[in-house]
Amino acid sequence: MKLILLGAPGAGKGTQANFIKEKYGIPQISTGDMLRAAVKAGTPLGLEAKAIMDAGGLVRDDIIIGLVKERIAESDCANGFLFDGFPRTIPQAEAMKEAGVAIDFVVEIDVPDEVIVDRMSGRRAHLPSGRTYHVKYNPPKVEGKDDVTGEDLVQRDDDKEETVKKRLAVYHEQTEVLVGYYAKQAEAGDATAPKYVKVNGTQAVETVRDQV
Ligand code: AP5
Ligand code: ZN
Repeated sequence: MKLILLGAPGAGKGTQANFIKEKYGIPQISTGDMLRAAVKAGTPLGLEAKAIMDAGGLVRDDIIIGLVKERIAESDCANGFLFDGFPRTIPQAEAMKEAGVAIDFVVEIDVPDEVIVDRMSGRRAHLPSGRTYHVKYNPPKVEGKDDVTGEDLVQRDDDKEETVKKRLAVYHEQTEVLVGYYAKQAEAGDATAPKYVKVNGTQAVETVRDQV
């Protein structure tokens, strides 16, 4: 099974990805997590990506497409995968189509901007795994510690209010068009088009999980 989780920054893609990968035994491919790992490792890609991410912009399509193509060629992706935060532009979506990647489902998690700004201020992240929590809505079992490893949780550098607003603006400018791009393919009855599902992401984490 091949899935895309689509939604604004902070919509809950990472939170839901965690449930989906457990249930279906497929790897989560989060381009955001891959870029944060490159930043942490100080690779040339990481050095280039850091400033763009901190400013809330998008990393160049050719770089992202290259990263993803390499990743989906790995053996653990043979039975499918879950894209989280990819594709984010029409060229990224088209690149997958051209590469013959047949997506089964596109799941849109819909959350209005006002809710997102509030969520991001309370988010805490375990960077090595990409797991995220919220101080109020999804607290870890032990304050400030990851449930699985017990390691420290941190605030992401791009979760400052001004950066979140910039990321939301970029989402509306460049990524939201994908909602129409996939929804239209599904409506046209194209047999190869992914099924399109929209879920109200303002509900409790478990309710969103069950509906997804
Ligand atoms: P990325 O890491 O993909 O960030 P994002 O899309 O902005 O999304 P987030 O990870 O911030 O949010 P999420 O939807 O995963 O929400 P979460 O589950 O954590 O990208 C970061 C940057 O990398 C980009 O800005 C860009 O620069 C670059 N990049 C990445 N991919 C790229 C690409 N393809 N092309 C170009 N550049 C790329 O939840 C958020 C918070 O809400 C948490 O605290 C959580 O606990 C809480 N929460 C979740 N669900 C609920 C709920 N139902 N109710 C209450 N709280 C909830
Ligand atoms: Zn995420």
